[in-house]
Amino acid sequence: MERLIIKGGNSLNGTVDINGAKNAAVAIIPAAIMASEGICVIDNIPDIEDVHCLERIIEELGAGLKINKNSIEIDSTSITRTAACTEDVRRMRASYYLIGALLARFKEAKVELPGGCPIGVRPIDQHIKGFEALGATVTIEHGAANVKADKLVGANIFFDVVSVGATINVMLAATMAEGVTTLENVAKEPHVVDVANFLNSMGANIRGAGTDIIKIKGVKSLKGCAYSVIPDQIEAGTFMIAAAACGGDVTITNIIPKHMESISAKLIEAGVEVVEGDDSIRVISAGKLKGVNVKTTPYPGFPTDVQQPMTAMLCVASGRSIITESIWESRFKHLDELKKMGASAKVEGRIAILEGVEKLTGAVVKATDLRAGAAMVIAGMMADGETEIYNIEHIDRGYPHIEDKFRSLGADIRRIND
Ligand code: EPZ
Repeated sequence: MERLIIKGGNSLNGTVDINGAKNAAVAIIPAAIMASEGICVIDNIPDIEDVHCLERIIEELGAGLKINKNSIEIDSTSITRTAACTEDVRRMRASYYLIGALLARFKEAKVELPGGCPIGVRPIDQHIKGFEALGATVTIEHGAANVKADKLVGANIFFDVVSVGATINVMLAATMAEGVTTLENVAKEPHVVDVANFLNSMGANIRGAGTDIIKIKGVKSLKGCAYSVIPDQIEAGTFMIAAAACGGDVTITNIIPKHMESISAKLIEAGVEVVEGDDSIRVISAGKLKGVNVKTTPYPGFPTDVQQPMTAMLCVASGRSIITESIWESRFKHLDELKKMGASAKVEGRIAILEGVEKLTGAVVKATDLRAGAAMVIAGMMADGETEIYNIEHIDRGYPHIEDKFRSLGADIRRIND
C-alpha cells in the first residue's frame, strides 16, 4: 500500500514553482469538448489524478488526445457519444461539468452522478435549476442525470447559493443558447474567471466573470484555441502555510499574489512575514505562531480548500484559534487524525476550537480527503519524530508530486509502496 513517511522537524527553505490550478483544469478539459472545429491546446495542466481521470473520460466520449508533460491537445471534432457512465465519471466531482458541456453542444447528456471528497452533502440542485431555466428537461434515473433540450434559450437565473460548480456548469450550457443569459449571485473564484476566459478564447461571448453577475450572449459554435491555465491558488496557499508552520524562508513562484490576499492576511496576523512580488510570494517564518480565528467564505474570502492545511498549522499556534467552516458541513475529519499527533481540538458543528500545543508528535494517520491529506503532510513536517500517512490517493488527486516539491525545500519525506 502506498504511503508517505515524514521525519518532522526540518525547516523549509528555497523556491517552489506552483502548477496550474486543479479546479480550473477540471472544468476547462470538459469545456474543450464543446469545440466542433479545431484543436484546443491547453498549457499549464497539473499532473494530478483528477486530470488523468478526465482525460480518460473525454477519450471515451470520442475525443482525440495528445498528452504532453504539462499540456494537452484535445481534438473534440470526432466526439459523437453524449453518455458518460464509467467508474471514472462516478469517482470524481468535476465530471458534472460534462453535463453543461454536452448539453451546450449536443443538446443532450447522460452523465452518472459525481463522487469527490467526503466533505458534506454535495447537491446539484442549482445546476439543475439553471439547465431547466435554459429550456432543458432533467431527470435523475439509476444514478445518472439525463438532460435534454430541443433548443436552449437564454434566461435570467438567480442562484440561491453561491456555487462554483453551478456557476461554471450553467455558464457552459448557456454559451451556445439563443439570446442572452444573465447569471446572478455567482461564484467569483479565480477558476470561474479562468473558465470564462477559456470559453471566450474559443469564441464565446461572456462578460462579468469575477463579479456577482455574468452575462452570456449565445454564439452558434465554438472552435479550438491555445490557452494556459492559471496558477493554483490552493496549492500556493498550502505551500505558504507549510512554510509558515515549519519555519524557514520559502519563495512561492508562478502565482497571482492578488489571489492569495486572504491567506497572506491570516499568516501576517499569525506573526509570519509575507513579502509580495509580481508573480511570487516569499514567506519567512521563525515557526513561532499566534492563534487566529478563520472563517471560510466564497472568494475573495478565506478559501475552504485551505482551511484544513491552516488548521494543521494552528494546532501549534499559541493560544486559541476558532475555525468556522461556512461552506461544507463535514470538513473537520482531519482533526481526529491531528489529535492522534497531540493536537487539542474540539468540534461543534461547523466550528472547531483549537488550543495551541507546544508540539505535535509523529503518528500513523490517514488522509480522509484531498486537503485533509495536505494538512497531514504539514502536520508531519512540523512534528517530532516519524509520521506515516495512508490513503494518499486522495492527495494525488489534487497535488502534483507533493513529496518531491516538499523534499526540494528540505523536508524529509518519501513515498513508500509495498
Ligand atoms: C468546488 O466544489 C471545488 N471543487 C471544491 O474544491 C471547493 O471546496 C468548492 O468549489 C468551494 O470553493 C471543484 O471545483 C471541482 P460549490 P463545488 O458548488 O463546485 C452548496 C477541493 O478540495 N450547493 O461551490 O462542488 C454546497 O452544498 C474541492 O479542491 C448547493 O446547495 O462547490 C456547498 O455548501 C473540494 N446546491 C456550497 O453550495 C448546488 O447545486 C458551495 O458548493 C451546488 C452547491
